[in-house]
Amino acid sequence: MKIPYLNLTIDKDEKSDLISEISNLMSKGRFVGGDEITSYEKALEKYLNTKNILGVASGNSSLYLALKTLNLKKDDEVIIPNISWVATAHAVEIAGGTCVFADVNDDLTIDCSSVERLVTDKTKAIICVHFMGIPCDIEKLVQISQKKNLKLIEDCSQAFGLKYGEKAVGTFGDFGCYSTNCMKILAGLGDSGFLISRNELDHKRIKPWLYNGVDENKQVVDIELCHRIDTIQAAILKFRLSKVDFIISQRKSNALKIIKETNNNKIAFIDSRERVYYGLTLMINEDRARLIDHLNKYDIEVKVEHEPCLSDLTPYKSHKSEFENAAKLSKSIVNIPISEALSTENIDHIIQSINSWNP
Ligand SMILES: Cc1ncc(COP(=O)(O)O)c(C=O)c1O
Repeated sequence: MKIPYLNLTIDKDEKSDLISEISNLMSKGRFVGGDEITSYEKALEKYLNTKNILGVASGNSSLYLALKTLNLKKDDEVIIPNISWVATAHAVEIAGGTCVFADVNDDLTIDCSSVERLVTDKTKAIICVHFMGIPCDIEKLVQISQKKNLKLIEDCSQAFGLKYGEKAVGTFGDFGCYSTNCMKILAGLGDSGFLISRNELDHKRIKPWLYNGVDENKQVVDIELCHRIDTIQAAILKFRLSKVDFIISQRKSNALKIIKETNNNKIAFIDSRERVYYGLTLMINEDRARLIDHLNKYDIEVKVEHEPCLSDLTPYKSHKSEFENAAKLSKSIVNIPISEALSTENIDHIIQSINSWNP
């Protein structure tokens, strides 16, 4: 019994539904633009109870387009957490700015006191990441950004379906950036993402940037590459949106069962009361490599997300950073499978394998 970290194969029922969505577009000859995209964006706005959503080509595009509105110059700084997928950092640099890396809390979200220490006259924005589906201290981040007159961008790529209080994440800051690539909670069949703009003017300004700077009147109003979502992805995502609540609740019940039934005092979980389970991270202070070997021996595929800290990557070594907690945590975390596709036997096997770990 091999337990993959994620199983992206599609079951028979869903396959036939998705083929019918794709077949419909093939008959129409519709692969870019079209009502399917608008209708997906409207469905997302309804689900997330917000406005101004644009489907885009990827989470990368979503972050980049939000940052492009800031007209960043090389000396302009954007504070981001020191643990995230590299796209969060690269988007800042490609948009013309410079990343500054803040330390993270024990739950791997950005540490607000580190952010406050790093803010200078050069700071233009903060990007927070709702890491693994755990919410950042968004109220404090809103407060800091308002007090210091900074833009706040929420990277919600790992947090589809997460609410903070009554509101979806991505609706607190100036922008909410989501990835819907094939590994995400709401997942297309490849790459895609979407962007929420709080301000309608930003939303309108970004629209031409989705298609080479061409506006609704076919006028080239700006210089930009192409960041639009494919029509096929939009149709698939709209279909999958109607089933995403099941995915969210199944992952939650898998994760909570593992947390409840694990009784190995060498292992702790990184968890939070209100969250979605993009991943379930366990922490082990020593012997992580041997724990990974142990789980692999029991046919369980695991993932370290993410090591090293961003400030340790070659392009970012000379960037300003704080990393004390991030450096320690990045060496002691490992993610185990919790996907909705797992059976009860799979979950029991994961629990037994963790419990039998005795370094
Ligand atoms: C936190 C975070 N930001 C950004 C991205 C980039 O998203 P995409 O792969 O859709 O471009 C990812 C994707 O893994 C991510 O996890």
